Amino acid sequence: MNFEYTEEHIAVRDAAREFAQIELLPGVIDRDTEGRFPKEQVKTMGELGFMGMMVNPKYNGGGMDTVSYVIAMEEISKIDASASVCMSVNNSLVCWGLEKYGSEEQKEKYLTRLATGEIIGAFCLSEPEAGSDATSQKTSAELVGDHYILNGTKNWITNGSSASVYLVIAQTDASKGHKGISVFIVEKNQEGFVIGKKEDKLGIRGSDTHSLMFSDVKVPISNRIGQEGFGFTFAMETLNGGRIGIAAQALGIASGAYELALAYSKERKTFGKPISQHQAIQFKLADMATQIEAARLLVLKAAWLKDEGKDYAFASAMAKLYASEVAMNVTIEAVQVHGGYGYVKEYHVERLMRDAKITQIYEGTSEIQKIVISRSIIR
Ligand code: CAA
Repeated sequence: MNFEYTEEHIAVRDAAREFAQIELLPGVIDRDTEGRFPKEQVKTMGELGFMGMMVNPKYNGGGMDTVSYVIAMEEISKIDASASVCMSVNNSLVCWGLEKYGSEEQKEKYLTRLATGEIIGAFCLSEPEAGSDATSQKTSAELVGDHYILNGTKNWITNGSSASVYLVIAQTDASKGHKGISVFIVEKNQEGFVIGKKEDKLGIRGSDTHSLMFSDVKVPISNRIGQEGFGFTFAMETLNGGRIGIAAQALGIASGAYELALAYSKERKTFGKPISQHQAIQFKLADMATQIEAARLLVLKAAWLKDEGKDYAFASAMAKLYASEVAMNVTIEAVQVHGGYGYVKEYHVERLMRDAKITQIYEGTSEIQKIVISRSIIR
């Protein structure tokens, strides 16, 4: 067993770290305050190859492994989780599903541009009444001649307004339950497709989360991915990989906060010595470092299983469950180590604490991860 990164992994880590420090860090507080999407920075992420890391070079992707992807996700999330969720959705939820299950025509038309970040994608599963209970899709797609007519509302859609391509899950035959759900590629600016208001969120405030409304939107049959009825399986399989990306994001939020707390503890003096010399702080740092290392091992294991072509649904749910708990614990402790300074924006840890919370909610709440894990154990 080899726990060391390869030279390629180290190169990816260093490139992501440098990009995050130079391009993301300078404006991250302002973007959070203003709820502004990191448009220019996402464009640069595309140019650097971070938006389609695992896609086959044949479709303009980076042809890298999932381990490289989680390493990059960790580094970028240390600095800006709003940028990293855009990256994660594009890589894991949009490019992956299109590459695995899309037709050659769909890949040529959409994947080749998504993989370079020329355009970005969104994954549209959640609805006002179908979040955790994803089988209860109300959005419908009715086949009329050579196209479908799409009607319904999607909620909490990451990249909601910045995307150009939307993978939309919809009910094509309500009598068949989850086996009557299909998935479609929908382009922006189609008649009847309206982007709703941007959500004013606790964290990842730079990420553009929107509701989307479809009213008699015409979608050609050629834009259906796979057969009718394949949409739920598509969504579940896509989310299995997506959860690895979000676990890596949670890991990055935790390790970013920990690194800030460690550095601060060596500078800040109380009672005549740096606070890192007080046992109360040392215990916190030790707990944070241990939890982060355990989370990193789970994230890397899930990524490795995926790269090896082995079953990773269980491992990705475990990684996301644990890493998101660690993100929450560690960011709270990082604020505590900073004392009053931790409660103000300038020191970054309060933002990381707010950003951490979403990792316990999106791509399946912690409770959903426990359902996936326990079903796997019992089976
Ligand atoms: N992987 C592969 N297949 C799976 C699966 C998984 N993890 N979980 C379920 N399935 C399959 C089952 O095998 C079953 O298939 P068959 O009928 O062919 O046997 C089918 O899906 C239905 O499964 P269940 O009967 O278990 O379905 P359920 O209704 O009990 O619920 C669930 C399953 C796991 C709770 C599922 O609804 C779920 O994962 N919910 C959470 C949805 C979610 O994560 N939403 C996040 C939105 S996307 C997002 O957040 C992106 C973003 O913007 C950042």
